[in-house]
Amino acid sequence: MATFYGLNLFFFSFLIASGAISVVSGTVFSIVNKCSFTVWPGILTGNGGAPLNDGGFALNSGASVDVNAPAGWSGRIWGRTGCNFDGSGAGSCLTGDCGNKLQCAGAGGAPPVSLAEFTISPSGDKDFYDVSLVDGYNVEMGITTRDGSGDCENVGCVSDLNGSCPNDLRVLDGSNVVACKSACEAFGKPEYCCTGAFDKPETCPPTDYSRVFKAACPKAYSYAYDDASSTFTCVKANYSIVFCP
Ligand SMILES: *[C@@H]1O[C@H](CO)[C@@H](O)[C@H](O)[C@H]1NC(C)=O
Ligand SMILES: *[C@@H]1O[C@H](CO)[C@@H](O)[C@H](O)[C@H]1NC(C)=O
Repeated sequence: MATFYGLNLFFFSFLIASGAISVVSGTVFSIVNKCSFTVWPGILTGNGGAPLNDGGFALNSGASVDVNAPAGWSGRIWGRTGCNFDGSGAGSCLTGDCGNKLQCAGAGGAPPVSLAEFTISPSGDKDFYDVSLVDGYNVEMGITTRDGSGDCENVGCVSDLNGSCPNDLRVLDGSNVVACKSACEAFGKPEYCCTGAFDKPETCPPTDYSRVFKAACPKAYSYAYDDASSTFTCVKANYSIVFCP
């Protein structure tokens, strides 16, 4: 029996070494802070999967952290700004807060928040990724790919949308604009949220509000049915998620 397993293992190793089959390994997300201020990344794993890096940590200006995601991982990464946490990790953030804690561990970020969204292939096929402003905007964010094959476009939102945010969508801290709400969040109307009679791409066209987001960030989702110009694919890549790219 031992020989049988040994032989199998040997044969299996041979297949891998010869390239006849490939082992699907994980994906590395390098999270980089090029902002002049500290950002507290939050990470939410989809489908009830295990959190990566406890779901959140502090990232000083100029710092970078590698996060390993298993094959088939899906979820979202965002940046929190203006946070204050005590030694036990309790505290809150001006934007992107995940329920008054440093380690989001399964909680999402409060809108308005810019999101990097990923669906990593379980089998080394195409990964899907995008930057989404469907939940609003709070910090400049970009996704770049490394060593993948296929389209692998660098995407994101690299202009300061706080500055161009329409008055009725602004989130203020004193007189500073710290985030920009989506029209759906600000007004809750079906034509902005693509709900009710507006629940299809054909009946939910861009609005003057979503066009402001699209103009500032052409390669990001500006509203729910903005698919055509906003989802990207890459095969077997690692990714950098850069704040203030
Ligand atoms: C937008 O928010 C960022 C981060 O909170 C801040 O650094 C920037 O100055 C803001 N822009 C404006 C125009 O207020
Ligand atoms: C991703 O990064 C890991 C760790 O640095 C490395 O082993 C792997 O080869 C990289 N993958 C690609 C496609 O570059």
